[in-house]
Amino acid sequence: MSDVFPVNDYGPLMPGLIMAAVAVVHVFLAQFAVGGGMLLCYMQWLAMTGQNPHARTFVKGYFKVVVLVSFVLGALTGVGIWFTAIQISPATIGAMVENFHWLWATEWLFFCLEIVSGYCFYRYQSRLTDRDALTLLIIYAIASWVSLFIINGILSWQLTPGNWLVTHSLADGFFNPSFWPSLFFRTIVSLTLASLAACVVINVMRGLDRDAKTLLINRVSMLLVPMIVMPLLGFWFLAVMPADSRSWVLGGSPAMMLFLNISIGASLAIGAYALFGLVLQRLYINGATASLLLLLAFGATAGGEFVREGARKPFSVRHVLYSNAIRPEEVATLREKGCLSNDSYPLRYASTYPNDQVRTGGRVFRRQCQVCHTVQGTNGLVELTGSWDLNQMRLNVAKLQHTKPFMPPFAGTARELESLVQFINWSGSDRPLEWPASNSSEILAEIEKWIQEAGTKPGDFEQNRKRLKEDVPEKPVAL
Ligand code: HEC
Repeated sequence: MSDVFPVNDYGPLMPGLIMAAVAVVHVFLAQFAVGGGMLLCYMQWLAMTGQNPHARTFVKGYFKVVVLVSFVLGALTGVGIWFTAIQISPATIGAMVENFHWLWATEWLFFCLEIVSGYCFYRYQSRLTDRDALTLLIIYAIASWVSLFIINGILSWQLTPGNWLVTHSLADGFFNPSFWPSLFFRTIVSLTLASLAACVVINVMRGLDRDAKTLLINRVSMLLVPMIVMPLLGFWFLAVMPADSRSWVLGGSPAMMLFLNISIGASLAIGAYALFGLVLQRLYINGATASLLLLLAFGATAGGEFVREGARKPFSVRHVLYSNAIRPEEVATLREKGCLSNDSYPLRYASTYPNDQVRTGGRVFRRQCQVCHTVQGTNGLVELTGSWDLNQMRLNVAKLQHTKPFMPPFAGTARELESLVQFINWSGSDRPLEWPASNSSEILAEIEKWIQEAGTKPGDFEQNRKRLKEDVPEKPVAL
């Protein structure tokens, strides 16, 4: 069986949300830096060919922002992602490093190249010829885009490992079904962010009059044009998504659908403004409006990332690893041996628990549920089960993958399940120091039966539909 690491406890904040918050900020900054590199090349070229008299001033001012963001904030949040991920899902990070070891190393080399070329430009800008400056900027832009290219392969593998599941070949895992749509999509998002950020920067640049600013804004907004193909890429992405993930996004999970709609709505708003205002009518855009559009773009990125992460459930690597670090093939064994059989970590504040059964429940919660739930707080189990009686709770947890198919199957013994139910109930009753242990053998037998009925496979809409159809009697039953 694989190694067990405990999930960090963030009180009322769900670990998944903490991960998402750090990741969204990083993705936003990193994609801005990628697009920023491309925009700088374009503007440097305009300066060299004399097509815009202020392009040189822009390159100077904008480059500082890109460097600051990618070198300082990008690096800080990048390390932040690793730091958060190892507290929440070391098994996922382990799987990613194990399968893509040399790709990570290659990605790091390109990151170094990005830093070195960026630094050289920053340090020697005033002494460089135009051509050398452009060369450095091109190296910077290519290096940062290749980083995106590589990380995109690893991230999209988590959702759609495709043929890799059979062949385990690096190329199959990397160039998986969602690789291209998400690469194109992310590249366009990068250009969009760079362009919107440039509108903000141009507005705060000193020494330029309104006409100069308008000329520059007309140029940088050309990078918004590719947004036109975003809807197509969105459909492509949806089409290669696994059917069950698609069904969460398109209605199965209200939260995910809401986030998808926020993302689409915000992108449409930006796209419409960009197309009609900036590209067709060549309007000036002031700092406040540009900032607002950038904020909308942040919302769209956050929504999109949330959907991408959420749609993977119940897996963190599809068919390979559940979000709670249990592997699908381990479920049957854990049901026999117990999910705590290889978990040697002590329980925090153990003495505040009333008895061993509730303590066991606390540890079962930590092992199987804590990645996605809190006890009381975001997605809190006490709140979610608030209106259920004990038997309903036992049944729904025993058949967890059928209760909501974005949860993995319960992977423990009937005794552990009863402990978990007692733990949730005790937590919802203000954690009294006295609590009776529940050890009725009839209850355990009933739970065992339900666990058996649930099976060890993940929940599956198609299978369920078939089963329900078979259950329908041929002739209508007379009432
Ligand atoms: C992969 C993430 C994940 C894991 C692991 C997980 N859950 Fe959930 N669970 C969810 C999500 C997402 C919801 C949906 C919340 C909503 O409907 O708003 C949910 C909902 C629930 C609900 C409410 C269901 C309903 O129909 O209203 C219960 C009860 C629940 N989970 C219990 C558990 C227990 C107990 C465990 C551990 C044995 C667990 N979950 C593990 C993600 C997970």
